Amino acid sequence: MRANIIQIKLMKQKGEKITMLTAYDYMTAKIIDEAGIPLILVGDSLGTVILGYDSTIPVTMEDMLHHTKAVVRGSKNALVIADMPFMSYHINTNQALTNAARLIQEGGAQAVKVEGGVSVAGKVKKIVDCGIPVMGHIGLTPQSINQLGGHKIQGKDIETGRKLLADAKALEEAGAFAVVLETVPEALAAFISAKINIPTIGIGAGAGCDGQVQVVSDILGLFTDFVPKHTKQYAQLAKSMSEAVKNYYDEVKSGLFPTAAQSFSMDESIINDLKKE
Ligand code: KIV
Repeated sequence: MRANIIQIKLMKQKGEKITMLTAYDYMTAKIIDEAGIPLILVGDSLGTVILGYDSTIPVTMEDMLHHTKAVVRGSKNALVIADMPFMSYHINTNQALTNAARLIQEGGAQAVKVEGGVSVAGKVKKIVDCGIPVMGHIGLTPQSINQLGGHKIQGKDIETGRKLLADAKALEEAGAFAVVLETVPEALAAFISAKINIPTIGIGAGAGCDGQVQVVSDILGLFTDFVPKHTKQYAQLAKSMSEAVKNYYDEVKSGLFPTAAQSFSMDESIINDLKKE
C-alpha cells in the first residue's frame, strides 16, 4: 500500500526524518520505491534534467502528465507528488483546480506541489477542499527565476526571513500537508520548521528540516551540466555510462560483440537447405 499524507505528517511528530527524491520515469521510480523512499516527486526539474531546457519554465501540463504516469506505473509504495508546472495554477482558481485534478485523475499522482506561499494560499485551500493533497514550495522557487534574478539564497535578511515564515504559515493554514524549503539558510529553515506543525522538506536548507529532497540525477552523478552546492554524489553514473558506451562502441567495431552467448542457434540443416534453393 502507498504511503499517505497522515503517515508523512506523523513522521514529523515522531521526529522521524523524511526522505524524498525526484523521478521522471518508470525504471528510476521502481528503484527509488524499492529502496523504501516514501515520497517521490515528479518535479518540473524534468525540464532541465530530462528535456534539456535551461529552466523549468517551458514544462507543460502534457509533459508532467506523461512523466507522472510513468512514475506511478513504476512505484507501489511511495506517495507520488506531481509538480504543477509554470502558469498551470496562476490564472484563476478554476484553472488551478482543473489542472490539479488532471494530475490526480489522468496522471495517477496522489498529491500535487505548487510554488509560492501567501500568494497561492487561496488556491491551495480550494485544491485541498476538493480532496487533493498539496505540498507547498517556498524559498528559491525556480518558476519565478526571472523575478528572483537567478539561483540566489532566499531569506538572508529580516524582511525576507519574515516573509518566508509568513509563507510557510499561510501554506499550513491553507491545508498543505508539507512544504519544500529550497536554498534557505540553515538557521532560518530550522526556525521555520519549529514554527509550523507540517513537515518541512529541505533542499539546500540544512539539517534542521524535517526531511530532505534531492534531484535524483544529482545524487547519482548523472546530471553533470551543473552540480549544485546542496547536493552530494552517491555515485558517478555519468562516468560509468560513458565508459560502458565507449566499450560497446569498441567491441562492435572490433567484432568482440556479439558472441555466441548473445546469439540464437538453429538447426544447421535448414540453413543448408536454404543455401541449395
Ligand atoms: O522540480 C523539482 O525537482 C523540485 C525539487 C527541487 C523540490 O521542485
